[in-house]
Amino acid sequence: MIMKKTILTGIRPTGNLHFGHYFGATSNWVKLQEDYECFFEIADVQALTDNFNNPEKVRKNVYELTIDLLSVGIDPKKAHLFIQSKIPEIAELTVFYSNLVTMARLYRNPTVKTEIAQKKALFGNDGESVTYGFVGYPISQAADITALGGTIVPVGEDQLPLIEQCREIVRKFNSIYGVTLTEPEHLLSPTPRIKGLDGKEKMGKSLGNALYLNDSSEIVQQKIMNAVTDPQKIRKDDPANPDICMVYYYHKLINNPNLETVCKECKNGTRGCVACKKELIQKIEDFLSPIRDKRKYYEDHPEEVQTILEEGTKEAKIRAEETMKKVKASMKIDY
Ligand code: TRP
Ligand code: SF4
Repeated sequence: MIMKKTILTGIRPTGNLHFGHYFGATSNWVKLQEDYECFFEIADVQALTDNFNNPEKVRKNVYELTIDLLSVGIDPKKAHLFIQSKIPEIAELTVFYSNLVTMARLYRNPTVKTEIAQKKALFGNDGESVTYGFVGYPISQAADITALGGTIVPVGEDQLPLIEQCREIVRKFNSIYGVTLTEPEHLLSPTPRIKGLDGKEKMGKSLGNALYLNDSSEIVQQKIMNAVTDPQKIRKDDPANPDICMVYYYHKLINNPNLETVCKECKNGTRGCVACKKELIQKIEDFLSPIRDKRKYYEDHPEEVQTILEEGTKEAKIRAEETMKKVKASMKIDY
């Protein structure tokens, strides 16, 4: 039997899945579960690094996110969905790895650096409120990956410095304690980052420009009707440039078979924006319809969601215990 390679990736439970997550990441996870042994982590401990003062939010979103992931096609028969905090080995490993990473290296991590800069801008302070747990989250993420024996890590571009740091930790561990762990490789998402409804480069909850997979028909309608179009187009029959229109961008994303017509009619002024938006709304409704059905099913069967998480967590725990045994033997703390 050929052993399938192990995939480990995670997501922070801080909100529902939006189109950016779906097209940028989780639609690919759905494909990957066919060919790899997949562990998808609901990273509640990592979410708490930013939200330690809001535990209710994290708890609620663990279940919301699990339902979102199941609704888009993560199949518990094929992949393991688990909750990070239920695997204490990850926390244990984080402590051991902490000795292998300097503070300077953490502060130099580009992802951490950017996030600290954002916090400073947001809270208007000099960074005094940045916690040890937050600065250290790349170490905990390295523990997520290696505890589960993940050798392939599907991520977006912004996460590459974290994977690189994980590889460094593994190399250092192996050189000090003997070869024990495998260096993981990243697998870049095939779709780059998805733009927001306002045309900003990134769709994000905090940016208020996101379209959610659990948005109701009314909300979808409202959001698309307000999406940014070519500002030069005032009248219905003005010709316009679809390349600077978010409505066209989403027609493309959603794979409208009518795309060429949309483009042509927009350019030659035979398409009005209202009709164009209505067509997009219909396509989005078609796309969301099976996702909504599945969501409804899992909302009506919370005990099934609980079981799926328990079973996934059980598998993850077995893996993490195996890793811990090896790690402790290598570190000579297998008393
Ligand atoms: N940091 C990742 C994010 O914010 C989430 C994450 C947690 C993760 N643990 C992981 C990603 C392990 C890859 C591997 O998107
Ligand atoms: Fe955008 Fe459609 Fe209006 Fe063209 S017609 S500007 S693609 S909404």
